[in-house]
Amino acid sequence: MIQTGKRGLLGLAAAAAAAPGARAQQPAYPTRTVTIVVPFAAGGPTDTVARLTAEAMARDLGQTVVVENVGGAGGTLGAARVAQARPDGYTLLLHHIGMATIPTLYRRLPYDPINGFEAIGLITDVPMTLVAKKDFPAGTLAEAIAVIRRERDNLNYANAGIGAASHLCGLLLMSKVDAPMTTVPFRGTGPAMQELLSGRVDLMCDQTTNTTEQIRSGAIKVFAVATRQRVPSLPDVPTAAEAGLPGFEVSIWHGLYAPKGTPRPVVERLSRALQAALRDPRLVARFAELGTEPVARERATPEAHRQFWLADIAKWRPLIQAAGQYAD
Ligand code: MLT
Repeated sequence: MIQTGKRGLLGLAAAAAAAPGARAQQPAYPTRTVTIVVPFAAGGPTDTVARLTAEAMARDLGQTVVVENVGGAGGTLGAARVAQARPDGYTLLLHHIGMATIPTLYRRLPYDPINGFEAIGLITDVPMTLVAKKDFPAGTLAEAIAVIRRERDNLNYANAGIGAASHLCGLLLMSKVDAPMTTVPFRGTGPAMQELLSGRVDLMCDQTTNTTEQIRSGAIKVFAVATRQRVPSLPDVPTAAEAGLPGFEVSIWHGLYAPKGTPRPVVERLSRALQAALRDPRLVARFAELGTEPVARERATPEAHRQFWLADIAKWRPLIQAAGQYAD
């Protein structure tokens, strides 16, 4: 029963003031800096995609978007950080195909690798290149395969840990040429590139977003791109099929995620900002210089991303189980 009279009115006013609807309108998300966690070391390909995406999203969101690198354990440390973060839209994850392999490769994780996240949208598919140190004793893919088959595990193959793109590509390469190499893991292919440039490791399979400039400067050798078509930014580099290794095709999809339970309006706001970022001329131009392009608009939605991601998990699961190679 509602009391009237002055005190009643004050009571009413207080109640009204306390009522949720009456509280001052919550300022729209975001009201402060947003962090994108990259699960690999700074300076690598995922970091490059993240920094360009963050810059462009910040222009749409009207807030600073920073990148934080949490490398290690094939990208699972950074993913754990975000899965366990407050689901308020201020801590996001930018990850790649690893999100499709990790659920099978890792059987003991401190987070749910599938239901721990909200998909926000796909970003880009980056081609892989097979590269080697400058004085690697081969000039073509065929010659490189001969060296790999002769030297086998005397050769050091660099990657970014189990589940990383460079790991998957290495697995495919070694199975295709039927010769194992010694794998040297790093917290990302950013640091691995430094070891390749110094000649301390021999070979690596890595994304054009990390190899293009080193290839162009002649600081490293390249034998092929692992794509069906040549990459416009590397017109002289043959496809693996052209160079004699058909079926050696890997491109690395990337997507943006928020912790599970992030409010729908926030996920939708982030998706709109991502869509705007992927149409941003500065991002598009830089992606092109690095051998890639944004995904088509219809793939950059939360629904399309989630469907694609779940389908890719289902594709990799039997392959990994058949190989019986688990990370733990
Ligand atoms: C990186 O950013 O270091 C790479 O994405 C690592 C990889 O997955 O090979």
